[in-house]
Amino acid sequence: MDGNGRWAKARHLPRVAGHSRGVEKVRAVIEASIASGIEYLSLFAFSSENWRRPADEVSVLMRLFVSSLQKEIDALVRNGVRLRVVGQIDAFEPRLRELIARAQEQSAHNSRLHLTICASYGGRWDIVQAAQRLVADYAAGAALPGEQEFARRLSMSFAPDPDLLIRTGGERRISNFLIWQLAYAELFFTDVLWPDFQGEEFAAALAWYAQRERRFGRTSEQLARVG
Ligand code: IPE
Ligand code: MG
Repeated sequence: MDGNGRWAKARHLPRVAGHSRGVEKVRAVIEASIASGIEYLSLFAFSSENWRRPADEVSVLMRLFVSSLQKEIDALVRNGVRLRVVGQIDAFEPRLRELIARAQEQSAHNSRLHLTICASYGGRWDIVQAAQRLVADYAAGAALPGEQEFARRLSMSFAPDPDLLIRTGGERRISNFLIWQLAYAELFFTDVLWPDFQGEEFAAALAWYAQRERRFGRTSEQLARVG
């Protein structure tokens, strides 16, 4: 979800205004996902690298995280959303950690939409933490892992790999998001800034995705035969 700062700057507003507007778009995308029958939606809200931003911007983002969780959790639960927060959670202050734990618990029985907020998240962090767990398991006598055993230790092992990645804000890069899990994802890049991201743009991304042929290494002819 990129482009909050530029959206605000273009309007001579503080960056914070862009982040607040960005939060509203999160609500809209959750609703659109439910309406489209999407079962897994993962949002890259705050990266491992975002801690390097000026302290006042980081603290505003943390406050927004707290207030949005407090404000939205009941409606999310009512709408069948199961919320998970994935990343280096121990970097957050205790109050936010408690809120996250409570929200996860409160929504644990839901399964209509699995909503994951990747926060204090980095793809390399994820791979390293999986490797560390593997090393510990190996030392305790587990066999050398293959891809599946490795993937099982990644932080989003509860979800299938993403089919579609949408990046707003004009950059054409992954920026350390789900680097392992995106291996076969279709990548949709748009210049639209996140605070301007609308239902139409989301629908355009889904329509573009629907036209992709997903071969997973096979040929078109093989796919046609399988049907
Ligand atoms: C939102 O956009 C991403 C967050 C870390 C919340 P940015 O804050 O990166 O916006 P730009 O790239 O400066 O426009
Ligand atoms: Mg940015």
